[in-house]
Formats: sequence, C-alpha cells, structure tokens
Amino acid sequence: MSAQLTATSAIVLAAGQGTRMRSRIPKVLHPLAGRPMIEHVLDALTEAGVSHPVVVTGHGSEAVEPILAGRAATIRQEPQLGTADAVRVGLAAVDDATADLLVTMGDAPLQPAALFGDLLVERRRSNAAITLASARHPDPTGYGRVVRNGAGDVSAIVEERDADDEIRAVTEINVGTYAFDAIWLRDAIGRVTASDSGELYLTDLVALALADGRRVGVVEASDAIECMGINDRVALAVAEELMRRRIAERHMRAGVTIVDPATTRIDAAVEIGQDARIEPWTILEGSTVIAQDAIIGPHAHLRDSRIGPRTRVWASAVEEATVAEDAQIGPYAHLRPGAEVGARCRIGNFAEIKKSRLGAGTQQHHFSYLGDAEVGENVNIGAGSVTANFDGTTKHRTEIGDGAKIGVDTMMVAPVTIGPNATTGAGSVITRDVAPGKTVVGMPARPIELRRRSGVTADAEAQPDADAAPVPSGTDRNSQGGG
Ligand code: UD1
Ligand code: CA
Repeated sequence: MSAQLTATSAIVLAAGQGTRMRSRIPKVLHPLAGRPMIEHVLDALTEAGVSHPVVVTGHGSEAVEPILAGRAATIRQEPQLGTADAVRVGLAAVDDATADLLVTMGDAPLQPAALFGDLLVERRRSNAAITLASARHPDPTGYGRVVRNGAGDVSAIVEERDADDEIRAVTEINVGTYAFDAIWLRDAIGRVTASDSGELYLTDLVALALADGRRVGVVEASDAIECMGINDRVALAVAEELMRRRIAERHMRAGVTIVDPATTRIDAAVEIGQDARIEPWTILEGSTVIAQDAIIGPHAHLRDSRIGPRTRVWASAVEEATVAEDAQIGPYAHLRPGAEVGARCRIGNFAEIKKSRLGAGTQQHHFSYLGDAEVGENVNIGAGSVTANFDGTTKHRTEIGDGAKIGVDTMMVAPVTIGPNATTGAGSVITRDVAPGKTVVGMPARPIELRRRSGVTADAEAQPDADAAPVPSGTDRNSQGGG
C-alpha cells in the first residue's frame, strides 16, 4: 500500500466567519486586486503543483462555493469549531492515497507558491509529522507564536489569547501553513481537544506530534508580510497595496512602462503588451487586455475591455468594450458595454457609446450618444448628435452607412437607417430612412431639394436661432460640427 502513497493534496480552510472584518460578505470573498482573496491562494497552490485542493467552507458557503466551482472540491464544516475541526472535516474529502498534505488558510492570499513547495520538500526530507511555516514579524500581535526549546526545536505554538507576556514577546509567528504526514494526521486529528476558548486549535497538533515521538520541522519564510493573514479591513488594505506593487512590477519586468506605480491600479488578470505605456492615475480592472504600444491614461478607467495596438485612451471610462488599433479615445469619452470601436477612430469630448459598432476611421467628438447603432467606416458624428434608441418600452437600432456625415445636433429616431455617404443637416430630426448619398434637413428631416422646392428654408425650420448655424448645405462646417 505504501507504494501508492505518492499523491500530494491540500486543504484550504475557509469556513470561519471572519468576525473582525465586520462584513456581511464572507471574508475569503473580499476582493484583492479585483479577485476574491481565496482565488489568490488557489493560484499559488496551482503554481506549486497542487492542482485540485479541498476547500472547507461554512460561513457563507452558498456564496463561496460557486466561486470555487471547477477549481476545488468543497466540503462544509457546520458548525465551525476551530481550525483543527476544519481540517478533520476536510480530510473526509482527501484521497486516501495522499501521503503529503498541505494545509493553508483561505485568508492568507499573498503566500508565494515557493513556500508551499519548500514545506513539502522539507517534510519529506526530514520525515516530520508536521513541517510548519514560520516568519519573523516586526509586529506579531494576533498571530500564534512559535515557541522553541533550548536546542532550537519547536516545542509548541501558542495562540495570542493564551500567551503570557514572555511568549507575546516572541516575534516568530505561525504562518498557518503546514505540510503534514497525511497518515499521521488522520490518526492525530481526532485527538485534539478543545482549548480554553472552546475552539479546537490546529496548532495543538504540534504538542501531539512531539508526544508521539515525531519530528516537527520549520521552514522560515523570507518575507513575513507575504505570510500575513487578513483578519480585518486594515490588513486588507495593506495586502492590496502589496499585491498592486507586485502586479505592477511583473508588468514592468515584462516590458510595460508604468509611469507612476503608486497611482496605478492593475487587477491580477489584466494582460498588457510590450512597450505599452500606462500613465498615472489609471485603473485597469477585470479581464482587460491592452495590446502593445498602447498608451493608457492619464486618468483612464478600464474594465473588462480590449484595447488594440498603438491606441491611446486618455481620461476616459471604458467598460466591456473593444477598441481596435491606432484609435484615439478621450479625453472624456465613455465606452459602455458592447461598444466596438474600429481602427483609427477618434472618440472624445463627452462622447458616449453603448452596444454599437463603429467602422474604421469614424469620428465622434463633442457630447454625443450612440446606442444600439451599426456605424460604417469614415463616418463623422457631429456635435450633439444622438440616437434616440429607446421609445419608452423597447430599444431600436440605428444604421449609419460608410462615409455618412451626421450634422451637428442630429436626432436619429430609431429604428432608422442612414445610407452610405448621406448627409444630415444641423438640427435635423431623422424619423425616416435616408437614401445613400442624400442630404436631409429639418424636423422631421426631408431631402433638401424637396424643402427648397416647397419654399421652406431648412435654416428657418431647423435653426430658429439664426446665430446658431448657417443653412445646411453639406459643407464640412455644417455636417461635421467643427470636426
Ligand atoms: C490562525 C492560527 C494562528 C496563526 C494564524 C495565521 C489557529 C488556532 N491559529 O489564527 O496560529 O498565526 O492563523 O494567520 O489555527 N476556519 C475554518 N473553520 C473554523 C475556524 C477557522 O475554516 O472553525 C478558517 C478561517 O476561515 C480562516 C482560517 O481558518 O480562513 C484561519 O482562521 P482565523 O480565525 O482567521 O485564525 P487566526 O486567529 O488568524
Ligand atoms: Ca486569520
């Protein structure tokens, strides 16, 4: 049987309430660099070669379990009687063939994968019952302390609440991550008795191992901050800052310029191409992908979006949108979900786009709105132009053909189609389709030649304020609203 004892498994403890967070959200779901903190723990485990861990859930398990689907097995601990009880519960879901078992905490998301690997290797080498991770912490308050005997061997772990002044002065903390001899652990876990607080402490296993005549080894982590457990929101903010710095450094080492890492926030899953430049005060969230040579910021906020090569996004909000290469977005554009902006487009100055596709070379400047629109190539959307896409009950589509010129303050009452190379006059209200190449003016808009024949000038009808704009005539000045 021992020949089969080769597998390595892991248990991640995540059932506790996290009282000190004072939150209605389970602690392990609080986001860190844009993802639930427990996902960072799972990432590090995967990197260490432990692929399908068991997560012990309890408090808020209905919310926690869906996040873990496909990545980990889950098992519920009800009620939550302490960390030793959680491991006992977790063991029921661990394969019997497991020889090496890693146990770690779901609230310690900064732990490097190397620490897990080092613990497993060291335990095997020394055949210890437990090899635990420790760290020298400048402020050990709140952590269990690693107590060593005269020979330097671990004699106990003492929790803060059970420690006297002498033990509280110890700066070597228990990280909360352990490699166990799984066979020994299965036998010993049932022997842990309740502490004075009523909780079953996992840390009591140290004394049990020593009483069994087994070794307890230690791997000292090089960076105590990376081992921090997040118990309250102050610690969460410290971890956030640290993780942000790590992410920024990873991108910089890979060839991305981050002008001011202190004012730049990049979520863990964001991808950035070589020689892209991230200007200060920029936030890149979720699954955002930035292509090479793009310039993002200053003051850009992107979420779940894709930005093409050499495109510039300046002082704009971009959500679930796609921008192709060589485009210029902003300042002050808002690309909303479903915006697809083509190559070389220029979008700025309070332009808003939702669920619309813009062909290459199209321009939209000056406070305008496109929603549910299919816009061709090299279209010019004039200042103040709006798709009236909502009739109070349903959304309707607007189509604008290649090369069309939408004059300033054009109202497109959807559903409506404006043909390729058509022109709309300043202030026109488009209620009917416009044929390719036609110029329409007025409210409601009609072909300009019909207006002239009936003796009504478009100027009088569409621009009651004579100072506002001259007669529409298809010139650039009228149709492009200043560019
Ligand atoms: C624990 C350790 C402490 C160590 C510290 C490191 C114990 C008794 N103490 O203390 O020595 O220095 O971590 O950060 O182990 N959990 C369950 N079920 C429970 C109780 C807790 O799953 O019944 C989970 C929690 O969700 C959490 C983890 O175990 O993810 C640790 O629990 P927590 O209460 O935060 O322990 P600490 O007081 O931080
Ligand atoms: Ca903790």
